[in-house]
Amino acid sequence: MNLTELNRIATAMVAPGKGILAADESSGTIKKRFDAIGVESTETNRRDYREMLFRSKEAMSQYISGVILYDETIWQDAKDGTPLIRLIEETGAIPGIKVDEGTQALPMCPGELVTVGLDKLAERLQKYYERGARFAKWRAVIDIGSAIPSMTAISVNAHALARYAALCQAAQIVPIVEPEVLMDGDHDIDQCYEVTQRVLNTTFQELRVQRVALEGMVLKPNMAISGKKCAKQASVEEVAEKTVRLLKACVPAAVPGIAFLSGGQSDEEATAHLNAMHKLGPLPWSLTFSYGRALQAAPQKAWSGKAENVAAGQRAFSHRARMNGLASKGEWQSSLEQKAA
Ligand code: 13P
Repeated sequence: MNLTELNRIATAMVAPGKGILAADESSGTIKKRFDAIGVESTETNRRDYREMLFRSKEAMSQYISGVILYDETIWQDAKDGTPLIRLIEETGAIPGIKVDEGTQALPMCPGELVTVGLDKLAERLQKYYERGARFAKWRAVIDIGSAIPSMTAISVNAHALARYAALCQAAQIVPIVEPEVLMDGDHDIDQCYEVTQRVLNTTFQELRVQRVALEGMVLKPNMAISGKKCAKQASVEEVAEKTVRLLKACVPAAVPGIAFLSGGQSDEEATAHLNAMHKLGPLPWSLTFSYGRALQAAPQKAWSGKAENVAAGQRAFSHRARMNGLASKGEWQSSLEQKAA
């Protein structure tokens, strides 16, 4: 393992003014997104859609540091025969790959899930590296509900995340470690804070036990935020203040960067929250975005599967990428949204 090189890549993934495009929707998830815009989820449509994003020159070269791909996409060619991964490299962004294989029910823990995909992972990582991937992603899912999460679900998922991260580093690939506490429930921000704290502490304990080099990874957490169904929604300032407090308490300064998931926040909320965190003074790590929905909802709608809408889709994507790029430096203002609308 060359830790200097892993650290160089991790640092580039969280460079100020830039963030990560999570375009790694599994076939099931992208079908849901396409259903919402009335587009059939065929291999060609998925290719055309992602090609549109990767050919968005302004967004990709100025605001996107890296792109997380799904297995199908990393092997796919653009319409003109250029591998999609080359389009990404040509913009200066770093290609990455989702390597978990989704979730399964966790035995003895009703309602809870464990992320799978460790078998043969070393071999898969080697193939992805040869294809050009320089970082990877593994997502664990923790739900808040009555009597959950259990300590069992938190520990088995943390164990798997650390196993994955160690295998990545041994394969010279930077692991994005993503323990996602879902915002789907009716819990308040303080419950989210408390559960996320337990999840992050357990995850970092496992990372240490399994000798993962913190300098060569990126953390992808949820924010401390109210559940979507909670009657009392925390303000932007409260989300920012509690999230930064939580991360300072749990994430060692050796980690080069933290890149949030959007998790179902609206586009503008996800941007406003990140921006507000940068107003809270100097932070020990880079803090940026690794958004899926909050970067892609607008371009998906603008595109709607029509070739004549590609330029509009690219404009919508560039706008969101620019807004989040500014937020990653604390330079965003809501008036910039209105100007574009
Ligand atoms: P969202 O930003 O839509 O939550 O997706 C990010 C991601 O990669 C989840 O694994």
